[in-house]
Amino acid sequence: MSADKTDKKFSVAVVAGDGIGPEVIDEARKAVDTAAALEGASFEWVSYPFGASHYLKTGEVLPESAIAEIGRHSVMMLGAIGDPAVKPGILERGILLTLRFVFDQYVNLRPALSLPNVPTPVPLNGGKIDSVVVRENTEDLYMGLGSTTKDGKLSTPLELERGAYSLLGELKISISNGLPFAAQVALNTQHGVSRIARYACETARKRKEKRVTIVTKSNAAPALYGFFEDAAKEIISSEYPEISTDLVNVDALCYHLVRNPSSYGVLLCPNLFGDIVSDLQAGLAGGMGTAAGGNIGDGLSMFEPVHGSAPDIAGTGKANPIAAILSGAMMLRHVGLEKSALALERAVSDYLGTAKKGEFPFEFAGEASCQQVGDAVAKKI
Ligand code: IPM
Ligand code: MN
Repeated sequence: MSADKTDKKFSVAVVAGDGIGPEVIDEARKAVDTAAALEGASFEWVSYPFGASHYLKTGEVLPESAIAEIGRHSVMMLGAIGDPAVKPGILERGILLTLRFVFDQYVNLRPALSLPNVPTPVPLNGGKIDSVVVRENTEDLYMGLGSTTKDGKLSTPLELERGAYSLLGELKISISNGLPFAAQVALNTQHGVSRIARYACETARKRKEKRVTIVTKSNAAPALYGFFEDAAKEIISSEYPEISTDLVNVDALCYHLVRNPSSYGVLLCPNLFGDIVSDLQAGLAGGMGTAAGGNIGDGLSMFEPVHGSAPDIAGTGKANPIAAILSGAMMLRHVGLEKSALALERAVSDYLGTAKKGEFPFEFAGEASCQQVGDAVAKKI
């Protein structure tokens, strides 16, 4: 490619966040910068302070003005959000989910790949894990519509703005025994299911596969998940005739994934099941320390490791930066730097394939610190 260097300048908004977030982001940054240079490209990294310590200091979660500013960058990277000192939900919903929703990042792409010398908890019998969760990322039980009541009467507005539509309504329920209860509304819309089904098919095409597995629970929740299945099947059969669909309930999928992890390819999931299945898949492929992810939409996309903030090992050097580094490779691919992305993925495999015992991350029984792993990967690029 002969594009001018100035064509290949990108700016990345960074929320390194809590716990091990900042440590793993530092290593991702090193790897991305090194790989991008192979194509004459460069990234400007602009940090935003949001996360637990900023919230505890200032009471600010993620102000509108910051969202507007973040939206002007080419891409975004996020380390991890969450801290035991903050009530669960405040930061996760207020930062992570808000970003996914306001930028309409409707795909959560979570690949799982067997990597050299990374131990897997179940035998692969000569097979290899190479699957990808294509998780719907804006709907389902994640919409944040719901409430609790102490007196048996619940009335809460159902109002929200999504990139693609707005909702208006009200949830009104009373229970005859007058006792406390909770209700949370899940929605899957034709708009939401259609676009994620298309993305799953495009993913299958890129992987040269002819099958998409649709993961639901239509036997227990036929309205919500029967709809998901039907809407997805409709798109796939009409627009992607070469692709066949497998329908599987999420419970059965979990069972089969554990017994035969190498037999799956593209897993098309509603938001909640995609969340759960991607952790299982990460565990099977060798651990959270290597599980990369991307929140992708037509506007700003955000790349983040699947793992959380792991406050127990923050600052000890024991964090494994590979998940963040591989998320960086997904970011490179997203902005069109395919060669750099491949070089980075190969560098990770190369490092893992040739590292001596002590040179592995702590997660894989080695003694290499987060920074040493990052340096070793960058050296292989
Ligand atoms: C993830 C996380 C989030 C999710 C939490 C922190 C809200 O588990 O990215 O998978 O459920 O999506
Ligand atoms: Mn999760």
